[in-house]
Amino acid sequence: MKFLIVNGPNLNMLGIREPQLYGTLTYDELVQYLAQQAARLGVQAEFFQSNSEGELVTAIQKAYGRMDGIIINGGAYTHTSIAILDALKAVALPAAEVHLTDVDSREEFRRISYLGMACCCRFSGEGKQGYVHAMEKLLEIIGNNNTNSIN
Ligand code: DQA
Repeated sequence: MKFLIVNGPNLNMLGIREPQLYGTLTYDELVQYLAQQAARLGVQAEFFQSNSEGELVTAIQKAYGRMDGIIINGGAYTHTSIAILDALKAVALPAAEVHLTDVDSREEFRRISYLGMACCCRFSGEGKQGYVHAMEKLLEIIGNNNTNSIN
């Protein structure tokens, strides 16, 4: 099972940005941790981070035909980007939305999620564990779909 794990703007600043909200783990440490967890789950994880909306769209498009699922923390683009929503819809891969913080308990504008409209599940406020739970959920969903298509 191959998953693309996408992180959007400012997530490269983890460890530096607002540590009281996002903690002290750096982006590289997050990737290292998730790579270990992916290996434990038998998942081949590919990581992509960009601060640019277009690059995120292109990375999602490139997942078509190569990946089995997408895990996305779109950062602030979650709340603004119809282009990333359309990319997720275009490739039509099972996708999970992740946020390190609990977006619903923050500012009002963070309650809107365009990306969530193309995602089958959401993990918000669980820190790095949210990505692991997203991998587990996608495995479950994809496994069930395969079982259904056999029967
Ligand atoms: C975030 C929440 C977003 O609202 C914010 O813009 C981010 C990070 C999170 O992981 O909690 O950049 O997606």
